[in-house]
Amino acid sequence: MSQVLQQLREERSNMGRRPRLMERFADFLPLTEATPPLGLGEGFTPLVRARNLGLALGVERLYLKVEGQNPTGSFKDRGMVVAVAKAIEEGARAVICASTGNTSSSAACYAASAGIEAVIVLPKGKIAAGKMLQGQAAGARVVAVDGNCDDALRIVRELTAERDPDSPVALVNSVNPYRLEGQKTAAFEICEDLGAPPDYLAIPVGNAGNISAYWMGFKEYRDAGLVSSTPKMIGFQALGASPLVQGHDFDEPQTIATAIRIGRPASGHLALAARDESGGLIDAVTDEEILAAYRDVARTEGIFCEPASAASVAGVRKAVADGRVDPEATIVAVLTGLGLKDPDTAMGLADPNLEAEPTVEAVRAVLGW
Ligand code: F0G
Repeated sequence: MSQVLQQLREERSNMGRRPRLMERFADFLPLTEATPPLGLGEGFTPLVRARNLGLALGVERLYLKVEGQNPTGSFKDRGMVVAVAKAIEEGARAVICASTGNTSSSAACYAASAGIEAVIVLPKGKIAAGKMLQGQAAGARVVAVDGNCDDALRIVRELTAERDPDSPVALVNSVNPYRLEGQKTAAFEICEDLGAPPDYLAIPVGNAGNISAYWMGFKEYRDAGLVSSTPKMIGFQALGASPLVQGHDFDEPQTIATAIRIGRPASGHLALAARDESGGLIDAVTDEEILAAYRDVARTEGIFCEPASAASVAGVRKAVADGRVDPEATIVAVLTGLGLKDPDTAMGLADPNLEAEPTVEAVRAVLGW
């Protein structure tokens, strides 16, 4: 066999052998022999150099961490795979969570793959259509409550605190430490892809688990001697749901970015610590700024993220314009979820289609060609 053919064969036989996330970063995760090897292909998401968007924002080196490419379309999968695996290891036969939609989709899908039940408690009428369908499709039992996600979280915390130990249910919101353990792997990937940590890590903030997980990841990579510095963590909330910026809880958080419509961030204290330890900032961006960034990311880079995800880019734009972030620095903005999950927001902003009779001439005419 020719050398080339042999090489191709070897490459092909290695295909599909990409390690699972938990395998790849096992040294940094609390796994044991008894942890089931769950995985739907989470992690290893692209870090895209965003030259066009960078130009529009006046930033020289902007990268986007495209977390919408995880199996259920959001970063939650990194933490959920660990949380569900550990739940099973510890004897759980069901998982429960409150959610604005992505945590619940992820919990439902990982529970389905592991053959256990998922119960999800959601704020009624405030979940993007794709997220609602994803949880339902995976067979989760869905309880819609007439309140917000903070109410839903209070309910599931109380439910799991009271639960009979003979029928164990694991709470898989980001107050579950295994969630943050899994989510920190995105920081490792960024360091590996860039060969060093960025100067700034820009990220949307809701319940504040993810910013805390990234900060933990960057510190652990530095402490392991794999890199020599850590980035400044710059987090962004939607103005109508910005308790960490205003310094008080919001009873009625409001934003078009429903994923981050959170008034009482469960990990708020960790996010403030990440901000202060890293020398970063947490600021608010308006819905208009979020939607402008949402459109710009898709139109300049071809990456369709969900509105909440665009808060990171809106935040970079604002912080650079304010002079609080150095435009010559290396900046990574995390795009946390996939735009297809929220078709209603997208349809509300889309230009109307051109219409034509089914002839070449008619199509040419409407195009002005
Ligand atoms: N981006 C997206 C797309 C999200 O779904 C979330 C949180 C965040 C950002 C913020 O992350 O909460 O760790 O600060 N979604 C949660 C959920 C609240 O229930 O899916 P965070």
